[in-house]
Order: sequence, then structure tokens, then C-alpha cells
Amino acid sequence: MNVYLGIDVGTSGTKVLAISADGKILGAGLGEYPCYAPRPLWSEQNPDDWWNAVVRVVPQVLEKANIKGSDVKGIGLSGQMHGSVFLDKNDAVIRPAILWNDQRTAKECAEIEEAVGGREQLIKLVANPAMSGFTAPKILWLRNNEPENFDKVAKILLPKDEIRRRLTGEYVSDVSDASGTLLLDVAGRRWSKETLSALGLDESTLPTVCESEDVVGRLTQSAADALGLTTDCVVVGGAGDCAAGAIGVGIVRSGALSTSLGTSGVAFVHSDEVRYDPLGRVHTFCHAVRGKWHMMGVTLSAAGSLQWFRNALCGELRERADAAGQDVYALLGDEAAQTPIGADGLFFLPYLSGERTPHADPNARGSFVGLTLAHTRGHVVRSIMEGVVFSLREAIEIFRGLDVPVAEIRATGGGAKSPFWRQIQADAFNARVVTPNSEEGPAFGVALLATVGGGEYANIQEACDATISSVSELQPNPEAKCFYDKAFPVYQKLYRSLKDDFKTISELA
Ligand code: XUL
Repeated sequence: MNVYLGIDVGTSGTKVLAISADGKILGAGLGEYPCYAPRPLWSEQNPDDWWNAVVRVVPQVLEKANIKGSDVKGIGLSGQMHGSVFLDKNDAVIRPAILWNDQRTAKECAEIEEAVGGREQLIKLVANPAMSGFTAPKILWLRNNEPENFDKVAKILLPKDEIRRRLTGEYVSDVSDASGTLLLDVAGRRWSKETLSALGLDESTLPTVCESEDVVGRLTQSAADALGLTTDCVVVGGAGDCAAGAIGVGIVRSGALSTSLGTSGVAFVHSDEVRYDPLGRVHTFCHAVRGKWHMMGVTLSAAGSLQWFRNALCGELRERADAAGQDVYALLGDEAAQTPIGADGLFFLPYLSGERTPHADPNARGSFVGLTLAHTRGHVVRSIMEGVVFSLREAIEIFRGLDVPVAEIRATGGGAKSPFWRQIQADAFNARVVTPNSEEGPAFGVALLATVGGGEYANIQEACDATISSVSELQPNPEAKCFYDKAFPVYQKLYRSLKDDFKTISELA
């Protein structure tokens, strides 16, 4: 039997998934590691920890699923986007990698926009504005703050591409992940010479770029020995975790959009043409589908908002649920479902970690507006669920405004397990919400890319058609849709009303 592995180098751990050529899950494992915050707002990891997780977990997954190393024909790599791995001329890691959720680079973001001739010009060059999480500001931060380290840099790689280097010896990235560096000409799917030259950066420090389903190498003998595989095993380009997750639920054609309610929330739409928001409110990246693009909005606290509420304020309910063997989220969802749509006038702004789309405002704060004595815990939970969905609707409205079609939504992530939260999505987005059969996230998407590299399918669309189906479908309720159409502008106005106060509050706290 031919087996394909998907390896997702995530922030909390690396997930390894083994699938058969027809997409059946054969085995999975997770190797966890720490994330370091040596200063407030910094976020770093040690690339050796990622590699050690790969070397530990791949053999475990093979053994548990009874898979022979020689059966593994291909590997797809996915990972947290934007992180910077700085290597010296001997491929030694110079300092810990700076991650996507690190906020140290506000000054460098301004420096980049100025160097290229302004924010609008940057959006024209690389389809996106400068964001503190992206890679280029991290490179400039190194140059500005650790010049002795910057002088040693011979190569800069994204997290999954550092794993690829250790697997194959190749310095390669794929176009979807490279889009998040702020150095890729996203329309042309190659490095932006103009941006690199304006920033004084050298293209030779970057990997070459490929399409996600391209075969870019084979395992070296030492990597094959370390993992219990063979040097016949190919490695494909793979994808950043957002594109990989979307592939894993079949977002490979125009009209299809996925939402993910994890700690953060993502609205991700396929686009046949490259389109970008001139205001830079949503991201435009190359898709992991050859020659296609995607647009994406990210809300930083999605299911994370409900998790915060559960952790901070539901201690007694949690104890009761645990004692009765019940799921506390299901109980909270039941309480919310008993309250009326709109939670009797209660609004929640989910900015518990600041916000990215559409406001890109680190000072934004989570807020409840409209509380009265009549409100119960169920109302509060409903307002959280509705606020998170409104926050994703902001991105979806921008996609629709740019004529990117949105006909069907595939709901994924922990929050999508709640049928009640899925129905709120159908009503507030006015779209059919489909639950896909695959729950395995980015690792599944890149394992499918590996099946294409291994010759099982002609392209990723064919691989998705053969392996992904829907398990349930919800239609929007017309009355609820009308209600949300009225409530949404109120939600949008609340941020505008509070924006200045958020800044003052962040200076006080
Ligand atoms: C995408 C993003 C995150 C990271 C971490 O733009 O910042 O999704 O990829 O998972």
C-alpha cells in the first residue's frame, strides 16, 4: 500500500498524519514543545524542538499504524506561517525563530512602508500591507537590533521549510507560505525584486519558490535513517497552515469559502484571479492550488473567546460538567440556544488579543455592550458566538465587495463542532454551511498534496474530489438573516465608536 505523510509544524506542536492514497486516515501523532516569551509581546521557538518532534513522532505513527517505512511514498509539509529561521553559512541556527504572533516589529513595519514609497505602493508590490507578524519586519528587526546576528545570516527560512532543509538538504519554499513574508510578488508568484532592493535585502538569502504540489526533493540518507523511511520518499512544496487547512476541506475552486473557529478564526476564500483589497484589510496570498490565489481574514480570538469565558467565569459549571462526564461547551451552547437571537441587545466585540482583520489594531479590547439586569449566562455565551461570527462576516463582506464569489461555506475548527454556532454562521453569512468529512486540518491538506506529488492524482483538485465529502448541511433561516443584517452595522459601528478609547485604555493598563 502507498502511504503519504502530512507534517504540520504548528505553534503548540508538530502533527504527523499518515493517509492512504484514497485519503483514509491510517495514523496520527503530536509532538509538543514550548513557546518562549523572553519579553512582553515577544514569541519565539527553537527550530531544534520542531525537528526533534518530527524525529520522535514519525516513527511512533508508523509503528502504531503498522506501516512499513518503504510504503511511505511522499511527505507534504505545512506549518505556522511568517516565522523567521535565521541560518549562518554552515546552516546553524543563529538565534531562536521569531514567530507569527510576535509583536515586536511596529517600527520596522513603518520603515518598510516608507522604504517602498508608502502603504499603497507596498500593497501593489506584495498584495498586503506591513503587519507585525509577517517575516520581512522580523528581518529588519534583526538588522536594527542584533546587527552581529544579521551579519551572520546566509539563509532565512520559514518554519516548515527549515524542516524541509533537514529532510532533503534543499532550500525551498512554496508560494502560499512565501506570500506571508511580505517579500513575494504575489501576482507573479516570484520574489519581488523591487521590494527586496528597496529594503536592501539580498534574494540569495531566500529559498527558491515552487508550487505546492511540485516535488522538490527526496529524503537524504541521514533523514531517512532518522525517520525510519527510505530515500525514495519524495517531499512536495506543501503550504502555509491556512492554505493547507483549506485544501484539507476541499477549498480548491471558485465560490468555496472555509471558516475556521479555532483559538483564532479564519475566513478563507479561493480566487481564480489575483484580487487585493486596496485598503489592505484582508490578506491576499497565493493559494496551494497551482496558479490560483486566496484571500483571507483573521480574527485573533474566535473559539478562544469562548474558551476565555469558560476558563475565567465558569468554574462551577466546569466542575459539574466534569463530574457528570458532560462537555461544558455543549452545556454553554444549550444555554445560549435558549436565549433569543441577538441576545436581547447584547453585543460582544471579540478583541481579547487585539485584532487583525479588518482593523489591524493591537490596542483593540474585548467588550460587552448592552448588558442589562435581564441578561443571563446564556445571553452572554450567545453574544460571544454572534460577535465572533460578525467578526468573520467583516472579512466575508470585503471578499463580496471585491466580487469574489461566496456560495458555500465549509465550517471547520473546534467551534464548528457546535451545530448552534454553525447555524449562526449560516444565518449571519447568508450562505449554506457544509460540514466536511475531514477533521484533520492542515496535515491532511499537505498529505493530499503529497499524493499528487506521488503520482496518485493529476492535481490537487482531483485529489480533493476523490477524498473529501460533506457530512451535513445547514441552510440560512430567512428571518434570522434579516435580523443579522440589521444588527451587523451596529456591531461594526461599535469599533469605530470605541477605537480611540481602546488606545487610551491600552495606555492605562
Ligand atoms: C496566518 C497566521 C497564522 C499562523 C499560525 O496568517 O498568522 O494562522 O500561520 O498558525
